[in-house]
Amino acid sequence: MLSRRSFFKTAGLGAAVAATASLPTELLSWAEPQRAPQPGGPILLNSNENAYGPLPSVLAMKDPFQDANRYPDKGYDKLIERIAAMHNVKADQVTLGCGSTEILKMAASAFTGPGKKLVMASPTFEAIEFYARAANAEVVKVPLAASYSHQLVQMAEAVGKNGGLIYVCNPNNPTASVTPRRSLEIFIRNLPPDTYVLMDEAYHDFVPVAADYISFLSTPIDPDRVIVARTFSKIYGMAGLRLGYAVTSARNSKAMAAHKLEDSTNILALRAGITSLANDDEHQTAVLRNGFDRDEFQRQAALRKLQVIPSWTNFVMFNTQRPIRTVIDYFKNNNIRIGRPFPPMDTFARVSLGKPEEMKAFWQVWDKMVANK
Ligand SMILES: Cc1ncc(COP(=O)(O)O)c(C=O)c1O
Repeated sequence: MLSRRSFFKTAGLGAAVAATASLPTELLSWAEPQRAPQPGGPILLNSNENAYGPLPSVLAMKDPFQDANRYPDKGYDKLIERIAAMHNVKADQVTLGCGSTEILKMAASAFTGPGKKLVMASPTFEAIEFYARAANAEVVKVPLAASYSHQLVQMAEAVGKNGGLIYVCNPNNPTASVTPRRSLEIFIRNLPPDTYVLMDEAYHDFVPVAADYISFLSTPIDPDRVIVARTFSKIYGMAGLRLGYAVTSARNSKAMAAHKLEDSTNILALRAGITSLANDDEHQTAVLRNGFDRDEFQRQAALRKLQVIPSWTNFVMFNTQRPIRTVIDYFKNNNIRIGRPFPPMDTFARVSLGKPEEMKAFWQVWDKMVANK
């Protein structure tokens, strides 16, 4: 979908990120908008969920509550084995979590702490920051580059001599952009001692085949240092069921497991996860459908001459050329939730892709807003 050239053509746009101005405090205190759908409630384009729901085979599971009266060990082991086989690793290299959020929490607890740092981009997915702070680690934020990729050299330098964890969200939330594989490889080879990398691949499945992106599960490097996180919340549409996993070395898995809540993954999620992984065709359909929705968004945006950051995900970010808070409020008053502000990108909207009729409503509201101002 996206050539390397067109990806880097966005460099000019990214100046807004690199040149971080002072952040309006009102943006920082902006609360997460409502996430749970309600009957007749707002159109939810705010949390990068999968608007289409779980795969058909999951919805058709014959007895969804089978074994719900038992502790989930059997399902846990079965899913671990399935994931290990899929990624060609040993079972003791896989850890399951209550969403990939629990993976982030376990990694922050295992690899940061007093005297150690968490280094992350800005803006990026923020959850891990709070877990690292709870572990009494110092948190260092490095602005994204003008191309919206991670500034890896600066991130490696920021870790310091005591080591810690570097969080790389690839593709990145909220910018929907990727950090080129080649730069990541050089970065990993040159990491300082006692430094780990959490490669968050939550949006992996949405990335079109492209030279700039190869998953660290497809072609792993240095599993003693790299922890790859994946989730069932996005392509598999299971955000409400809470299931994610990590793949790393057996030693790292053990270190992370020490911080895991016992039985944090429930039997329904485990069975839905196993069923999801058994259905490649449905997965492929979900990927294609997202590509179609993303292309259509791009087409609509181009018609309106909007500058969209090329998206590798199930959401898009674009420059509204207006204070983002007024845009969010306008959509909210028209029954549509879009993503919160992401300082310092204070004119950019993050919009999760919805179903075609939802996106039609989105563009109607957009056009009304533009016509009114
Ligand atoms: C980059 C990234 N990582 C992790 C998560 C957490 O997902 P979950 O805990 O549902 O797996 C999200 C959710 O939006 C995300 O955007």
